[in-house]
Amino acid sequence: MMSKTISGFSKLSKSNKIDWIVNTYFSNTEEAKRILKQYWNNNEKLQQLHDEFIENTVTNYYLPLGVAPNFLINDTLYTIPMAIEESSVVAAASKAANFWLDRGGFKTKVISTTKIGQVHFMYHGDFKKLQSFFNYVKPILIKDAKPITKNMEARGGGIIDIELRDKTEDINGYYQLHASFETLDAMGANFINSCLEQFAKTFKNEGLLFEGFSEEEKQIQIVMSILSNYVPDCLVRAEVSCKVEDLSDNDLISGEDFATKFVQAVNIAEIEPYRAVTHNKGIMNGIDAVILATGNDFRAVEAGVHAYASRHGKYSSLTHAKIVDGIFTFWTEIPLALGTVGGLTNLHPLVKLALELLHKPSAKELMQIVAVAGLAQNFAALRSLTTTGIQQGHMKMHLMNILNQFEANEKEKEILTEHFKTNTVTHSAVVEAIKELRVKN
Ligand code: MEV
Repeated sequence: MMSKTISGFSKLSKSNKIDWIVNTYFSNTEEAKRILKQYWNNNEKLQQLHDEFIENTVTNYYLPLGVAPNFLINDTLYTIPMAIEESSVVAAASKAANFWLDRGGFKTKVISTTKIGQVHFMYHGDFKKLQSFFNYVKPILIKDAKPITKNMEARGGGIIDIELRDKTEDINGYYQLHASFETLDAMGANFINSCLEQFAKTFKNEGLLFEGFSEEEKQIQIVMSILSNYVPDCLVRAEVSCKVEDLSDNDLISGEDFATKFVQAVNIAEIEPYRAVTHNKGIMNGIDAVILATGNDFRAVEAGVHAYASRHGKYSSLTHAKIVDGIFTFWTEIPLALGTVGGLTNLHPLVKLALELLHKPSAKELMQIVAVAGLAQNFAALRSLTTTGIQQGHMKMHLMNILNQFEANEKEKEILTEHFKTNTVTHSAVVEAIKELRVKN
């Protein structure tokens, strides 16, 4: 189909935007409109709130919000909210929660909470002069940012430090103001970016006036000012451990065999990037689901986590496991820059509800809960992979998707769910079973 361009689209009303889309791209315009409108909320105020989160909203995109109960974290029980479309994730989280509930639960601790932002700039001249300019201007940078930092400082956060970094070995004339921040319960993106943009302004203006510089040296060029989503010093640890013999909960595998295979699986992910990426993807199944449910930025977390997984120059596992003196220990240390105030957290009613479900956590507490969701997900995945294989659980959960594809009615769902309790679920087996059932009736 031929498409066409449009100018001034963002200025059209919502209904005119929809008209343009359906008339340009759809043969059945009424049906396309119906589907888009089917997801509108009846509550106009609530719909308007969602419309205004982004530009050009035409409808809402639903994801299921599930909950995984029975998570014992540092002796407190949590029911964890998860927004995710993948069939088996919440079931796996709940299973892992129950497994560890009987074995002491999860232990967590926040290791560090520092975030980074940088002003990238170009300077062509004597480095020593730049250094003395920086020493002179640093207190002025901090002073000029006071209107932005005042409230954060009153709560115990703010700018931790600003360093001058020489990057001229990589790019001719390239330097940075490398700043570190403590943003408490805020994820801090707006706070950090506002500080950085103020630093850049002050830095440039003071440079023009600095008497130690030649005329050329005064012309500092700011390239950009932006926070970093790489947060290796905003780290949280989550851990489970128990006696090896307590690991078995069935007759099929001994605790010892399970622990050995499990550690082997983790070791493989530690040294083999092809496996590590999938292994970590499974961890992110848990992490992203909680991050979405709590209104945090999963792209920021994803970018930071994967960079961290490569910090030694080779992509590797985010979890680790060991058996020492008959004790099995499985843990992760993961960078998570999260917020429980600001952003969507005060705006989106479901996000507020999710945070209340989690006992209204501080950002530090949320870091620990999210890390646990990741560790639990990885535990469930490795447990399946090293014992029954992943497909058993996956396909069981996927059964409902296939049944829905074939528009199975309630009665058919009931009969086939029962049937597949004792038969292996494959796509073709389900299709066959539906056909057979429909022929019979
Ligand atoms: C699927 O979404 C995630 C897994 O592939 C993770 C893993 O292999 O560890 C099951």
